[in-house]
Amino acid sequence: MVTVKDKVFAPFIEKTTLEQRIVEMGGEISRDYKGRNPLFVVVLNGAFMFASDLLKGVDVLCEISFIRLASYEQTQSTGKVKQILGLAETVQGREVIVIEDIVDTGLTMSELVSQLKAKGAASVEVVTLLHKPEALKTAIDLKYVGFEIENRFVVGYGLDYDGLGRNLDAIYVLAD
Ligand code: IMP
Repeated sequence: MVTVKDKVFAPFIEKTTLEQRIVEMGGEISRDYKGRNPLFVVVLNGAFMFASDLLKGVDVLCEISFIRLASYEQTQSTGKVKQILGLAETVQGREVIVIEDIVDTGLTMSELVSQLKAKGAASVEVVTLLHKPEALKTAIDLKYVGFEIENRFVVGYGLDYDGLGRNLDAIYVLAD
């Protein structure tokens, strides 16, 4: 058990299980993108640890860019919109692979994918370490998923609870 701030979390996915699956995912991406030159777009902060381990196992020539998503209220009718911050590389004509820590409702990822397509990306695929299928609120095509998990709150390995817990080297789940 670990305590993060005021909550107790139990072990959920161990370090070695994460490592093995991430090596497999790197191999899969390497095969699919052999001879191509993808642009990886890492979504900070949550995906930093996953991206670092995943990309060590990707053996195609690639570029890596780091972005943040900032929410802002556009108009009352369209509601909250996510703005991409820090994308220095042009995505026009590129094969983009977004690296995310977790897809929960899918709203963040589906908006990011459409924004990257609108910027002229030739293709946009998503690789996520975790996915909560029960929480999904929009149809989204996730090409590479590390683990499908139940709809429970998790921390560690990049994921935070109120800014804390990202440095844990495994995934922990909120204890009931
Ligand atoms: P979505 O738009 O609901 O798919 O939101 C995805 C984002 O919510 C992720 O990038 C995380 O930052 C955050 N998130 C969703 N579920 C969890 C969780 O269980 N633990 C920590 N962060 C989470």
